Amino acid sequence: MRIFSGIQPTGQKHLGNYIGAIVQYVEGQQRAADAGDVAIFCVVDLHAMTVPWEPDEMRARVYDTAAILLAAGLDPDRCIFIRQSDVHEHTELAWHLGAVTAHGDLNRMHQFKEKSARQRDLVSADLFFYPVLMAADVLAYRANEVPVGDDQRQHVELMRDVAQRFNDRFGEQLVVPELKIPSVGARIMDLQDPTSKMSTTGGSVEGTVYVLDDAKTVEKKFKRAVTDSEDPPRIARDPSKPGVSNLIDILAAARGITPEQVEESLADARGYGDLKIATADAVNALLEPVRERYSALRADEDALEAIFAAGAEKARAITSETLRDVRAATGVGPRT
Ligand code: TRP
Repeated sequence: MRIFSGIQPTGQKHLGNYIGAIVQYVEGQQRAADAGDVAIFCVVDLHAMTVPWEPDEMRARVYDTAAILLAAGLDPDRCIFIRQSDVHEHTELAWHLGAVTAHGDLNRMHQFKEKSARQRDLVSADLFFYPVLMAADVLAYRANEVPVGDDQRQHVELMRDVAQRFNDRFGEQLVVPELKIPSVGARIMDLQDPTSKMSTTGGSVEGTVYVLDDAKTVEKKFKRAVTDSEDPPRIARDPSKPGVSNLIDILAAARGITPEQVEESLADARGYGDLKIATADAVNALLEPVRERYSALRADEDALEAIFAAGAEKARAITSETLRDVRAATGVGPRT
C-alpha cells in the first residue's frame, strides 16, 4: 500500500491542517512502512505558481512548510519527502496525461472556476492545468492512496479517470488511486465563527490557531472563543452548540481521547471557562514540541536542502521506471 500526498507551501499551517492532515501523514508514513511500502510527501512549489507569487518568497515558504512537516514527525528516513520541482518526472508525466485529459473536464473543476473568477489579472494556463499536474504527482509513483481534504475530492476523481483513460488506451501502466478523506480535522471550526471551517484564507486571525502561534497567543484565542449563552452552561456536543462542540472536538483530538471522554472529564466544570482553558493547555502541550523542533529545523536551510536532495534521489528510483514505461507505451522518445 503506497501513499502520496501533496502540501501547498503557501500560507501558515493552522490547527485544522495539523489535526486533519499532518497527523494523518505521520500515521500514513508508519502504515505504509509497516506494509512494506512507502509514503511520499511532496511540497508542491509548482502548484504554488498557478496563482500570483513572489519569486523572492517562494523558496522561504517551501522551507517553512518543510520544517513544519518534519517537526510534526515526518521522518525522511522512513518516508520519501520531496520538493515537487526537484523531481522532473512529475512535469513530464503531466504532459503525457494531458494527452488523455479532456479540456471540458478541466473546465468543470470547481477550484479552477473559483480561482479564475477571483483572479484579477492573468488566469494562467498553469492554473487550468493544475489538476493534471496533481494527477501526475500521484500516478508517477503508482500510489494506491491519496489522503487529502474534502476540497480536493473532485481533483482526485479526475485523477482516477485520467489514469483509467491512460490504461484503456496504452495498457495497464498506471495505478488508479483511492481517495482518503481524514475524519477528524475536517471539522475543526473557526473559534470566532464555529459554523465555518478553520481556514487561512476565509477565516479570522483571532479564530484561527496557527501551529506556530506562541503559547500565550494560543491561550488568548481559546479564551476568546465563541461559545453560547445556555444557562446553566452545558459542556456537551450538540448541533445547536457549534462553539462548545468544536472546543470538545479539539480537546479530544489534542489529548488523543474521544469527545465522550472529554464530556465526562468536564462534567463538574463550573462554566465554559474551564473547557477553554483545558483546550488551550492541551493544544499547547501538543504544539509546543513541534514549535521547538520547527525553530531548529527552519534555521538550517542547508540541512533542509540536503533532505530534499536525498528525497529526490529516492523518488527518482520510482518515477524514472514509471516514465520509462509510459514513454514506451506512448511511443515517445528513443527505442527501448
Ligand atoms: N492540490 C492539493 C491541495 O491544494 C495539493 C496537492 C498537489 C496534492 N498535488 C497533490 C494532494 C497530489 C494530493 C496528491 O491541497
